Amino acid sequence: MRVLDLFAGAGGAALGLHDAGFEHVACVERDASAAATLRAAGFPAVEADVRDLDYAALAGTIDVLWASPPCQAWSSANQHAGLKGEEDVARNGWPWTLRVTRIVRPRWAIFENVKNARSYVERVVVPELRAMFAHVAVWVLNAADHGVAQSRTRLFVIAGPRPVSPPEPSSSRRTMRDAIAVAWDRPSPCVMTNEWKGRPTDPSWWAKLNNASDALAIATHGARRKLTLGECATLQTFPEGYPFVGDVESRYRQVGNAVPPMLAAVVARAVRAAEEGASTVRESLPAVASRIERVLTAVVAGVRARPPWGVDPDDIDAFIGRNAGYLRALISHALHRRSA
Ligand SMILES: C[S@@+](CC[C@H](N)C(=O)[O-])C[C@H]1O[C@@H](n2cnc3c(N)ncnc32)[C@H](O)[C@@H]1O
Repeated sequence: MRVLDLFAGAGGAALGLHDAGFEHVACVERDASAAATLRAAGFPAVEADVRDLDYAALAGTIDVLWASPPCQAWSSANQHAGLKGEEDVARNGWPWTLRVTRIVRPRWAIFENVKNARSYVERVVVPELRAMFAHVAVWVLNAADHGVAQSRTRLFVIAGPRPVSPPEPSSSRRTMRDAIAVAWDRPSPCVMTNEWKGRPTDPSWWAKLNNASDALAIATHGARRKLTLGECATLQTFPEGYPFVGDVESRYRQVGNAVPPMLAAVVARAVRAAEEGASTVRESLPAVASRIERVLTAVVAGVRARPPWGVDPDDIDAFIGRNAGYLRALISHALHRRSA
């Protein structure tokens, strides 16, 4: 499936999509260092502002449009900042994301954002998508429920031609100790773009556990240090040696901004399953229907031969008619739903 990735950053989402078997046509990213990281990782980076590109040539050629629009207006650090203008991409990248969606008309759209954007997304984004896609879903997923040793809750909007089943949470959680050998037996709090925040003079402040280094400070009895870039990248599920380019500040930002590749892969696989499951069912529908018909015929013959307890043998045809009809209706309803 061919992907156009907007606001691609260092490629956290791109890597997840790649791992799930998707192929990138372009990863659009304005920041020079992040674009250099994308290139070094082998992605087709287009170093540009999303507003400066002409997308018309891509119309009808893209299977998945992935976008992680900037979300300063809703990030927890800016909760009270509100929205200034909807054309201000740095604060709100949604209007441009929708604009590109209307031009490109992808088969699927997968958009990711902070969970605080939910009410805006449901009020503004979902109705626009409903006009373009048969099915639109909004999921809030915590990376810690999907194999990532980090509690990071993100909003996903999935729009496409078929309903997609949300991924099942895994039965156990990976911990910070599992991932980076810090003695903290829970998933880490969210990895931030600087992984360093304020001065923890008041121990109760640590209890808020706003970022991964808070957990590290508690685990090491207050010996606060910044998590290394490698630790942050590992908690984000980037593979060892992922080629981040740029100065230290930029690399922390690229890591902290990323969608954990493992979470992106989980979402991508759910979409792939909907795409492939649907076509498999479509192709085999006549075969499934004829097998069900044969089973039903055998059941009816068995019931005729030995009427169930409590059924008058004289009423057996009416009994079969009632129940077989009901069963047929149920099955045809189920098949119709799978193929729709
Ligand atoms: C939340 S991050 C994306 C993270 C990315 N999806 C990942 O998984 O690594 C948002 C990115 O959008 C980029 N960006 C912001 N405004 C942009 C614009 N107008 N055009 C292109 N990129 C932009 C930022 O530089 C930043 O890297």
